Amino acid sequence: MIKEINIDDLDLIKELENNFSFVLKDIVLDMQNNPFSHYVIYREKEKVVGYINYYLMYEKGEIANFNVLDDYQNKGIGNKLIDYVINQLNGKVDNITLEVRCDNDKAIKLYEKKNFIKVSKRVGYYEGVDGILMEKKMNKDIYILGIESSCDETSFSIVKNGCEEIATVISSQIDIHKDYGGVVPEIASRNHVKNVTFVLDECLKKAKMTMDEIDMIAISYGPGLIGSLLVGLETAKTLSWLYHKPLIPVHHIAGHIYANNLVKKMEFPLLALVISGGHTELVYMEKHYSFQKLGGTLDDALGECYDKVGKVINVDYPAGPTVDRLAHIGNVSYQLPMPLNDNSYNFSFSGLKSAVINLVHNEEQKGNSINKEDLCASFQNVVVETLSKKTLKALNEMDIKNFVIAGGVSANKGIREKLKYLCEARGINYTFPDIKYCTDNAAMIATAGYFAYLDGRRADFTLNAESNLELK
Ligand code: KG4
Ligand code: ZN
Repeated sequence: MIKEINIDDLDLIKELENNFSFVLKDIVLDMQNNPFSHYVIYREKEKVVGYINYYLMYEKGEIANFNVLDDYQNKGIGNKLIDYVINQLNGKVDNITLEVRCDNDKAIKLYEKKNFIKVSKRVGYYEGVDGILMEKKMNKDIYILGIESSCDETSFSIVKNGCEEIATVISSQIDIHKDYGGVVPEIASRNHVKNVTFVLDECLKKAKMTMDEIDMIAISYGPGLIGSLLVGLETAKTLSWLYHKPLIPVHHIAGHIYANNLVKKMEFPLLALVISGGHTELVYMEKHYSFQKLGGTLDDALGECYDKVGKVINVDYPAGPTVDRLAHIGNVSYQLPMPLNDNSYNFSFSGLKSAVINLVHNEEQKGNSINKEDLCASFQNVVVETLSKKTLKALNEMDIKNFVIAGGVSANKGIREKLKYLCEARGINYTFPDIKYCTDNAAMIATAGYFAYLDGRRADFTLNAESNLELK
């Protein structure tokens, strides 16, 4: 039980003194002479097992002292005491500060979870051991600079409070890679290096902001092409070091999912169908920044399959948008197999891709021409059916009230139409990302970064790029 005590609670003050080696007269004196000082205790079975002493000084708050008895640690008591203070100070102060020993990892982690940020070092503050000044900004807008460079787009974006886009710049290398029929990793990383400073500059100009006005930096550090990821990551670390801004690690797919929050605030429990050039998966989210993968592709990603199907009918890379357009003109007339038609949440697209390629080659050998529109319509029809089947399974079996799609392929008209129909028929709320933010961009990374920040996620300069990063 939490209780804020005052000068009349002499018994409790005495117990505080006994349990935490306080000097009784000091607390009493402090209470009598310092109108800013507040003491809050935590009692379990009538025993004072934790306390927090905080100051409320006009527009500033400070946590001065905080302790929980050894035997009562790891039970969430510290958590509750800090939450109590944050609630008390909410709406009254601009910020809450505190000092912590630099080697007290446990406390630092707890404060970071509550969104305190390291501000500066106080050398030798604790009898020779450095102290760290931490600050939690209250009622303040948070501006996050997002950085995305996992594949062939170099992008920077500034998003306010995880929902309001201030400025985004995307430099695409599609024209460079088109000639090779796909992204060439080495060329992609070299171009990121060439572009990165210009794109950052343009983004800040577009936002009419300086780096000093940015609160933190969100970086898409995986999955993706390792060389490409490293360019963005090194840029993020350099900016973080130079301007003393916290670094927030963001999973690229979390970014795709959070592109939806720029359209409408995401609500939970939520199902996300992620369909991109590198991923195809169903993800369940019970709350913000909590991801549970229900199933995924066993082989090719859907975007990859679209690109290969496009290639065999001579459509330029990336072929998805053209195949989608042709599919709307044509009729379903070619017989194609329904992939992985089972009762799992998994997908498989390599069989479907091979079936399309074989069909085209066989017809060519026979000297028959292919009706590209009909082939695209037939292919897309099977894609839509398999996506709907697995999505429906999740919607029927789980407690899901909200649905989103994410990733480059979520721009697909045919897929959108069918999924919209499915959700409407079941009374499920759905959001689809803006077409311009379906493919890779930094607005989605800055948006996801805000919720990663609220979830207490932070990175230091040891953060490494991970080409096969798991979503968790
Ligand atoms: O999400 P994204 O930019 O890259 C990854 O993170 O993987 O997705 C790119 C993929 C490409 O394969 C592209 O062909 C596909 O998205 N795509 C589409 C459409 N627009 C883009 N696929 C089908 N229909 C579309 N309209
Ligand atoms: Zn992507």
